Amino acid sequence: MSKEISLAEVKKHNKSEDLWVVIEDKVYDLTKFLHEHPGGEDSLISVAGRNGTREFVDVGHSQEAREIMKKFLIGNLAASDIKKPSVGATPTADDTGTGNANAIAIATPKQCCILH
Ligand code: HEM
Repeated sequence: MSKEISLAEVKKHNKSEDLWVVIEDKVYDLTKFLHEHPGGEDSLISVAGRNGTREFVDVGHSQEAREIMKKFLIGNLAASDIKKPSVGATPTADDTGTGNANAIAIATPKQCCILH
């Protein structure tokens, strides 16, 4: 249904007059939204032609923002350009161990025995 767009293609649209951004593996043409963006033009220009997912998420955009962005969706990032979350990671069983993280004893002062 949706068009597949490569990252190489997105990179060509990195100017304020022609501004595409990848957010969560979807491609948005924000050229027309640039002047309306409540967060200013500069923030969008700073991610023009690239993946701006982290920046977008870091701001903690509202549900309303997520509704607005649907209007600017032009396609999906090509599957070959989608980063696999576990690249390089070696998911071992569990690395939490029994380390000190949980060792912060909840030391309740012994105040309970001051009976006569
Ligand atoms: C389609 C994409 C986007 C839409 C529709 C959008 C929309 C909005 C809206 C509606 C707000 C007002 C606050 C809210 O409702 O959350 C906002 C604020 C903001 N946005 Fe975006 N935004 C988009 C992408 C981005 C990106 C990619 C960045 C960063 C590179 C960004 C940075 C900001 C900042 C810094 C604010 C101001 C936050 C504040 O004042 O606390 N936005 N945006």
